[in-house]
Amino acid sequence: MNVTVAGYLYLVAAALFIFGLKRLSSPATARRGNQLAAAGMLLAVVVTLTDRQIVGYGTIVAGLVVGSGIGAVLARRVEMTAMPQLVAAFNGFGGGASALVAAVELLRDPASPLRTLVTIALSALIGAITFSGSFVAYGKLQGIVSGKPVTYPGQRFVDLLIALGTLGVAGWLATTGSPTALWAVLGASLLLGVVRVLPIGGADMPVVISFLNSLSGVAASMAGFVIDSNALIISGALVGASGLILTNIMVKAMNRSLGNVLFAAFGAEAAVAGPGAGEKTARSATPEDVAITLAYARSVIIVPGYGLAVAQAQHVLRELASALESRGVDVKYAIHPVAGRMPGHMNVLLAEADVPYDQLYDLEDINPEFDHTDVALVVGANDVVNPSARDDPSSPIYGMPILDVDRAQHVIVVKRSLSPGFAGIDNPLFYLDKTMMLFADAKKGLGEVVSAIAEL
Ligand code: TAP
Repeated sequence: MNVTVAGYLYLVAAALFIFGLKRLSSPATARRGNQLAAAGMLLAVVVTLTDRQIVGYGTIVAGLVVGSGIGAVLARRVEMTAMPQLVAAFNGFGGGASALVAAVELLRDPASPLRTLVTIALSALIGAITFSGSFVAYGKLQGIVSGKPVTYPGQRFVDLLIALGTLGVAGWLATTGSPTALWAVLGASLLLGVVRVLPIGGADMPVVISFLNSLSGVAASMAGFVIDSNALIISGALVGASGLILTNIMVKAMNRSLGNVLFAAFGAEAAVAGPGAGEKTARSATPEDVAITLAYARSVIIVPGYGLAVAQAQHVLRELASALESRGVDVKYAIHPVAGRMPGHMNVLLAEADVPYDQLYDLEDINPEFDHTDVALVVGANDVVNPSARDDPSSPIYGMPILDVDRAQHVIVVKRSLSPGFAGIDNPLFYLDKTMMLFADAKKGLGEVVSAIAEL
């Protein structure tokens, strides 16, 4: 294919990625955005295949069949709650692929110009860190590696030495093109990825995964420079930038900095247990009590959290909302930016149950409404409604923006026990006079509430 034609087609593919990304910013247009970006990727792949004779078509088709097969099985089998680890694995493979491209290019031509050697070194370094770091993150979320921060005295100093050593061997590779230096960079970077993710607690993994996603994009972009592929440079840069923006949104929503997430070993201290938290008592309610409180309210704000995903209670929640609406109750949903275990987790769940987008409200828009709302119905959420984040300077999550459910007239919390959430800390909301606890699995408990409302 003519080089200029290929260049223009790559540009069209890049434009499709950008328009696709833009549309991903709203649930209403996200599906279309995904399709646009996928079309861009297909175009880039077809142009590359017809433009260059890289390997035989037999190998490519075999790779496509095996890869698509694994992808299709994974997509069907993986639970929504295991999505973050799946994304971690994808990032890991992306980083690993970039490191391999760099390694192959170096072994093919160790006498490449300095410019290429620098990008090979960077691609190998960032790609290998992303690979090992992502698989440690995967292991933590899957329960294969301890979810608690793994720390020891002098750890930061040791990590600093490993980081400096990694940079040193990368410099050696960039200036000499030595294959021995390549192996050293790969080994040191893999080690750095492991030692940097181990001290980070499970609760911070979504942020780490998003950051590693950004790194996998940077590694791909570097690999694009290595093999002179504009499409790879642009798509890698887009992944790098969007991953970083997402990371920033998450750390802001937790009132933390990226440095604090990466280096503070948050959650290393013993968690404050819920049930044993002093003499405080929580008021337990029956499904019938909850049904009466909800059915005779004028306004209800529903706050979904991680437990909604665990229980897969989104459909029964929608049923409950419809039952309330048919009785004239005004129903809204409040979405905290880090509710659940991944960005947009609650939006995806509620979209699955066909909850209209215009009933979903962001934190800033809904918080002023709690003051004049009759009932806040908290379903499987905990940390994102913990008032100590707002009121208690000694709380580990102090400063994290929360949904002000405690300002509603009544609060109903549906969860199985008084156990703490992801951050491992007690929640004073459960012990307020205005709070009723429906101790149940969300799907089962809400199902009973729906039946009780039908009988009123
Ligand atoms: P959490 O604070 O983790 O609380 C979830 C609650 O769900 C638990 O207390 C649990 O209590 C309950 N639950 C579990 N299974 C249930 C079931 N089957 N039925 C009913 N309830 C069930 O959740 P959240 O409020 O959504 O907060 C999210 C947390 O993740 C925050 O700490 C946030 O900082 C962190 N985080 C999130 C993200 C993103 S992007 N979402 C990123 C980084 C960190 P029981 O065991 O008593 O049922």
